[in-house]
Amino acid sequence: MSRVAVVTGGASGLGHAICTGLSNDGHRVAVLDIDAEAADKAAAQLQANGTAAVAVGVDVSDEHAVQAAFDSVRTQLGAVEILVTSAAIAGFTRFDRITLDEWNRYLAVNLTGTFLCLRAALPDMVAAKWGRIVTISSAAGQQGARRQGHYAATKGGVIALTKTVALDYANKGITANTVPPFVVDSPMLRRQQEEGKLPAAEYLTQVIPAGRLGAGEDVAAVCSFLCSEAAGYVTGQVIGVNGGAVI
Ligand SMILES: NC(=O)c1ccc[n+]([C@@H]2O[C@H](COP(=O)([O-])OP(=O)(O)OC[C@H]3O[C@@H](n4cnc5c(N)ncnc54)[C@H](O)[C@@H]3O)[C@@H](O)[C@H]2O)c1
Repeated sequence: MSRVAVVTGGASGLGHAICTGLSNDGHRVAVLDIDAEAADKAAAQLQANGTAAVAVGVDVSDEHAVQAAFDSVRTQLGAVEILVTSAAIAGFTRFDRITLDEWNRYLAVNLTGTFLCLRAALPDMVAAKWGRIVTISSAAGQQGARRQGHYAATKGGVIALTKTVALDYANKGITANTVPPFVVDSPMLRRQQEEGKLPAAEYLTQVIPAGRLGAGEDVAAVCSFLCSEAAGYVTGQVIGVNGGAVI
């Protein structure tokens, strides 16, 4: 069955792979991203794949912009029944050097942004008595991460938020699960490696039992399942996609 899927951060990395996966599953896809140009390109790729796709440039931390973006998706594609939140910022700062401004920006994009998108999507799902929500959190939110106090705190919040939404909406045909990746090859990861904040792939693979970095497709495959009809009894779960790095 074809549903309308919104993917935040859909222009790059994991979000981009998730858009492709949901498009291959036959869904209509809205690519929401702060990088409007990249979102346009991603939507054009999906359209070339035969998918009804739209791009909407939006900063997920902006309440009114998020509402307008979801209204635009409803008008162009229809009511939203699938939401995957992948938009986030990530970086490394020694704990004693995290400024309040930096802390607030991480909270605004990663946690408040997730909240705003969930809140904007849920009324359609309640009306349809069917919905699938997947938040992309992080292993940092499960176990902490050195020099990522701000980022890890937001991702821990995303995990708790997802579990709570799962409880609140479980009897309404709506599931909410979170996927916390560990290290997935993406533009975000490569930026961090180029800045010398993360070691090279050869080192990282040594701490991953599976012996390789994750790929966007590894995460997309799990998202596709969690967004499927078959996954209706899976809710409130933290489904690690990490090559065994966090167990
Ligand atoms: N890559 C990894 O190793 C890894 C590990 C753990 C968790 N994650 C999580 O996976 C998700 C995707 O990460 P990625 O590696 O694909 O990163 P990425 O930087 O490649 O993609 C993130 C996307 O989010 C968009 N974005 C950033 N701020 C935004 C905002 N305010 N509003 C709307 N869009 C915004 C960016 O423009 C970009 O397109 C993130 O939630 C990240 O925290 C990634």
